[in-house]
Amino acid sequence: MENFVFNVPTKVYFGQGQIRHLPEALAPYGSKVLLVYGGGSIKKNGLYDQIYQVLADFEIVELPGVEPNPRIDTVRKGVDLCRKEAIEVVLAVGGGSTIDCAKAICAGVFYDGDPWDFTGDSSLITAALPLATILTLAATGSEMNAGGVLSNPATQEKLGFGNKILIPKVSILDPAYTYTVSKYQTAAGSADILSHLMEQYFDKTPGTEIQDHLAEGLMKTVIELLPVALAEADNYDARSNLMWASSWALNGLIGRGKSGAWSNHAMEHELSAYYDITHGVGLAILTPRWMMHVLNEETLPYFVRFGKNVWGLTGEDEVVAIGGIQKLYEFFVDCDIPMTLPQVGIDASKLAEMATQAVKHSTIATRAFVPLKETDVLAIFEASM
Ligand code: NZQ
Ligand code: ZN
Repeated sequence: MENFVFNVPTKVYFGQGQIRHLPEALAPYGSKVLLVYGGGSIKKNGLYDQIYQVLADFEIVELPGVEPNPRIDTVRKGVDLCRKEAIEVVLAVGGGSTIDCAKAICAGVFYDGDPWDFTGDSSLITAALPLATILTLAATGSEMNAGGVLSNPATQEKLGFGNKILIPKVSILDPAYTYTVSKYQTAAGSADILSHLMEQYFDKTPGTEIQDHLAEGLMKTVIELLPVALAEADNYDARSNLMWASSWALNGLIGRGKSGAWSNHAMEHELSAYYDITHGVGLAILTPRWMMHVLNEETLPYFVRFGKNVWGLTGEDEVVAIGGIQKLYEFFVDCDIPMTLPQVGIDASKLAEMATQAVKHSTIATRAFVPLKETDVLAIFEASM
């Protein structure tokens, strides 16, 4: 295990009705709030009204309309609003897209240039407004981590940024807010959680038993409970476990003490950048193909462990390794996730270009579990057609 610092200062209010703590949670940071939200799901499910009720003593300015795969223009709009209205604290209410957009706004207020610059150099983030979140979709872990991902349609880029000062100060995790998430987004969100766990699990740093056993436990939880949430949207136990898995899959715990680049995210971000697809769906399509591509004599033990400990398979090593990959694929199929690129509107015309960008925008050629060149990425894309 490598040396690391683990410090996640987010105060989490977990469970039904925890929104009642919002006033006391925000009060230390100020009374002038920028409410950031998406395309309106929070108005349909009543959360928007609840926020106004509990924050009756606060002054609220709104930034609605954050897009899935949040766009840099919306960040710029938010920064302008914060400056004009002298905002003291930002409240993001939604999924990862809304929270990521809010993170960039929090930092953008203190930066003289264009916040898109953060995606090339996160050290430009030197100060930030305090951020609180109310999570409405179990997926990204943004509610308890330092990162964000922004899209720039003008350049067809989707790139990450991160700084520890962007970790939310407060997150309200009420699983009941996820009852209204569609089956498609519920499955996509869980595919994202699984991907975060797998990206960190398939890593060659030795001696990381804690991280690996915890990752296996979290993966098994998602595999067991996603079908329950899909069958019964308001199953509180399923929704609460998925929500808490979202946070722990990517708040640092599973990945600390390890190193290495995330292969599937690097590839998927290009699919989203070019075709604006749902992040978790892109990951579900790519991951089993990536696994088959990187399975070799050296990586076999990692896939045997995955087949045994996550899927409960027994038998010859190769059978268990391939069986685990097959089980993952079938699980996504059973959860009604489209499992080919054409099914999400991607044809062969830009595969080579996206493969080039995936390598250019990341360190997968040198630091991945199995280093990937452009030809490898292209082969994985082609296997996904
Ligand atoms: O915009 P609204 O109307 O709220 O609708 C959203 C959106 O259409 C809807 N939704 C969310 N909560 C709902 C709901 N619909 C009904 N009821 C609710 N309770 O779901 C749709 C998708 O929302 P979005 O926020 O885009 O989903 P997700 O949480 O999966 O976030 C995806 C974004 O996060 C980035 C992804 O790349 C993508 O841009 N990621 C962020 C990470 C991070 N910050 O650490 C890591 C991830 O790997 C990921 O890259
Ligand atoms: Zn992800």
